[in-house]
Amino acid sequence: MERVIIKGVGSYIPECVLSNADLEGMVDTTSEWIVTRTGIESRRICLDTEMASDLGCEAARRALENANISGCDIDLIIVATVTPDMRFPATACIIQEKLGCVDIPCFDVNAVCSGFIYALDVARNFLLNNSKMKNVLVIGTEKMSSIVDWEDRSTCVLFGDGAGAVILSRDVGEDSDAGILDVLVGANGSLGRLLHCPIHESAGPIGVSRTDQNKYFIRMEGREVFKEAIKRMCSVAEDVLLRNNLTIDDIACVIPHQANMRIISAIADRMEIPMEKMFINLQHTGNTSAASIPIAIDEALQNGKIQSEDLILTIAFGAGMTWGAALIRWK
Ligand code: UT7
Repeated sequence: MERVIIKGVGSYIPECVLSNADLEGMVDTTSEWIVTRTGIESRRICLDTEMASDLGCEAARRALENANISGCDIDLIIVATVTPDMRFPATACIIQEKLGCVDIPCFDVNAVCSGFIYALDVARNFLLNNSKMKNVLVIGTEKMSSIVDWEDRSTCVLFGDGAGAVILSRDVGEDSDAGILDVLVGANGSLGRLLHCPIHESAGPIGVSRTDQNKYFIRMEGREVFKEAIKRMCSVAEDVLLRNNLTIDDIACVIPHQANMRIISAIADRMEIPMEKMFINLQHTGNTSAASIPIAIDEALQNGKIQSEDLILTIAFGAGMTWGAALIRWK
C-alpha cells in the first residue's frame, strides 16, 4: 500500500521581535486593543536584507535534519508564498540553489494563507503519480512585512514574517491509515476584493512610504473577511471529516490558520471542538500567511501536542478567497 508521509518538519522565524508596545509608537493603537481583538502579543520581522528565500531555506534545512536526509535526496521543491524575493525566478528555484539540490523541478504556489495546504495537495499527488519521486520539500515562507502598510493600523498589527517546511515521502507499508489521508481545497474568486494587494514589490523596510500606497500594500475589509473565514474554515473541516467517515472526536489536535484568536474560538464553538485540541501560537507569530500552518505544526510537535498515531486536522483560509483542510495521521 503506497502512502505519503511527513518525514521531517522544520520552521524558522526571524530574530527581530515587533511587540504590540512597539506598534503603539508607530500607529494609533493600543496593546490592549490588539490582544483583545486578535490575541496577538508580538510578531517577528525580517531584517531589510532577509528575504522569503532565506527564511524558507533555514526552515528547509531544519526539516531535512529532522528527516535525517540531505538536499541531494529531494526530488521536487514547492514553495507557497505571496512575498517572493522577485517576480521571477521562483523562490523555490532560489532555495534550490541555496540547498544545492541540482536540476530538480521547482515552482511556487500562490494561494495566500491557504498556500501551504494547496502545496501539500500538489506535492502528495506528484508523489502518488510519479514513482521516480521519493521526497518532496514543501515550504511556506513569507516576508509579510514587505507588503504591510505600516501606516494602516487595521492591518499592520496582524501580520508577521516566518517560514515552515515539511519533507513528504512516498512510503510503502501494511498500514494504509498513515500519513496524509486526505486534502480538500477550494476558492471563491468573486470575493477577491475583500483582501488583496495589487502590486508586489519586496524589500520594503518598516516606515517607508510609497507614492501610491493602495497599489503596493495589503488592503482588507476585516469584518467581511472575519465572517467568511469562520464560515469557510468550518465547512471545509466538516466536509473533509465527513468524506472520511470521521468526527471531531477522532481528531487529537486541530492546527488552524493563525489569523485571529477570535476566529479560532468561533470555529471551536461552532464545531464543538474543545479549546485544548486547538493549537494556537499566534500570540508570538501573528499571521504569517502561507507559513502559519507549517510553523504551527513544528511548534505543536516541539510542545508535545502531537504524538505518534495522532490524527491531525489542519484548516486554512486566505485571500482569494481560498480555503483548505488536510487530515494527517502522524507516524
Ligand atoms: O489570513 C487571512 C485572513 N485574515 C483574517 O482572517 C483577518 C480577519 N479580520 C479580523 O481579524 C478582524 O476583522 C480585525 C482584527 C482585522 C479587526 O477586528 P474587528 O473586531 O473586526 O474590528 P473592526 O474592523 O470592526 O474595527 C473596530 C474599531 C474601528 O473603530 P470604530 O469605527 O468602531 O470607531 C476601527 O477603526 O476598531 C478600530 N481599529 C483599531 N483601533 C485600535 C481598527 N484597527 C485598530 C487598531 N487599534 N489597530
